[in-house]
Amino acid sequence: MYDNNPSLENIVKKINPDAQGQVIESYSDSITDKKFYIESYGCAMNFSDSEIVASILVKEGYGSTKIMEEADLILVNTCSIREKAEDTVRNRLFMFNKVKSKKPGTMIGILGCMAERLKHKLLEQEKLVDIVVGPDAYRDLPVLLRGAEDGDRGVNVLLSREETYADISPLRLDSNGISGFISIMRGCDNMCSFCVVPFTRGRERSRDAYSIVAEAQDLYDRNYNEVTLLGQNVDSYKWEDPETKKIVSFADLLVMVAEVNPLLRVRFSTSHPKDITDEVLYTIRDYKNVCNYIHLPVQSGNSRILKLMNRTYDREWYDKKVARIYEVIPDCTISSDIITGFCSETEEDHQETLDVIRKSKYSLSYMFYYSERPGTLAAKKYQDDVPLEVKKRRLSEVIDVQSEVAHDLNQKDIGKSFEVLIEGNSKRSDLAFKGRTSQYKMVVFPKTGNYKKGDYVNVRIHEATNSTLKGEIINQ
Ligand code: 5AD
Ligand code: SF4
Repeated sequence: MYDNNPSLENIVKKINPDAQGQVIESYSDSITDKKFYIESYGCAMNFSDSEIVASILVKEGYGSTKIMEEADLILVNTCSIREKAEDTVRNRLFMFNKVKSKKPGTMIGILGCMAERLKHKLLEQEKLVDIVVGPDAYRDLPVLLRGAEDGDRGVNVLLSREETYADISPLRLDSNGISGFISIMRGCDNMCSFCVVPFTRGRERSRDAYSIVAEAQDLYDRNYNEVTLLGQNVDSYKWEDPETKKIVSFADLLVMVAEVNPLLRVRFSTSHPKDITDEVLYTIRDYKNVCNYIHLPVQSGNSRILKLMNRTYDREWYDKKVARIYEVIPDCTISSDIITGFCSETEEDHQETLDVIRKSKYSLSYMFYYSERPGTLAAKKYQDDVPLEVKKRRLSEVIDVQSEVAHDLNQKDIGKSFEVLIEGNSKRSDLAFKGRTSQYKMVVFPKTGNYKKGDYVNVRIHEATNSTLKGEIINQ
């Protein structure tokens, strides 16, 4: 979901929350000479939002560029989830201002989660930016830009209860042409005590189901083979059809998207353990193209800490949920988010977090030490009393255990074969492909036959590390 790093690192990109900011690929279809440059930090949601922003800007006549120095408008889509994420963005803003000093007239804008919290500081005190636009105000960007051209410093950080950008077709700018994100809901009502998202992104709202299906169909028609349905808490997706009054649940939505085409893989992120239902599990089991992979963040393995975190489940509930997933979908993989050193966490509590990683057999986890965020429930109610070096030491223990668990899990794949969607050349060699299994495991294998990016192949695994499987294509 979020982080500085966004790649969203996610889900591909999010999937990697500690990645560095990514620059959207260039797109040159502009009807004026003006160009924008955009960097995104944080979660997959932010990357997806940047594609909505790009679409709005292209309609406004801008083209995009990957070269910051040639841009008339430099944008940064920001993340507030941890202090480090905000620090990274601030450093980038100083850098952008250096570029601006050599090319006066360049506009700098800040988008996303840092907008609300830091608008006065960035705009008025430090004068680091010309415009500030919050996550629900991107439609206002053209008006703010015109104002800024006339010398006004523009701000719109209003959060909305309705905005889902359902009608805006995102510009797929940094895509591999195989896998696309589809935002299905915005905001979050959960109020986990450590988390700033409910404050920066506002109340939860679900997008029109038919617009989601149409976006998936459009991606499929453009030869995409995989969509990832994105939301802070996808299992609480709920949309009422205004005509039939029928309620579409997340399980219903999964079916609707899965039925676009059996060759279109469907992934989703993120699931809250309290909300994922058996219906969702049955849909994953029954539809081959709904991937056998669930991101089910635990945050802590200790029930007292989970209560302080306001996660609304305890350790026993979580363990049962994991057992249920493996019972319904035996070859499912599960991944997690983990925070070490939350307020008052003891060594015994920490041991329980190491235990939940082993017991749940996560294929991967996104792991962080606790970073107090201003305005959150935890910042108001609890003392951030675990010393930084203890938080960091516990984090490294969590990383070590996760790595052992993933290694052991991957060893069990040796000798098995998996259907792999080819994503492109492997990082190390043009003679090998990389792709993912339904379980979201990365597989590298030599190019044989006439296969190409976007094809499905069966690969038998003969080697495994804690992050990658290696194998070879077998007869289909
Ligand atoms: N400190 C550390 N990690 C956090 N996360 C959210 N808020 C914080 C915080 N204040 C982590 C959670 C969440 C993930 C996206 O980021 O693990 O699931
Ligand atoms: Fe933050 Fe919790 Fe909502 Fe995730 S579910 S965005 S951690 S409040």
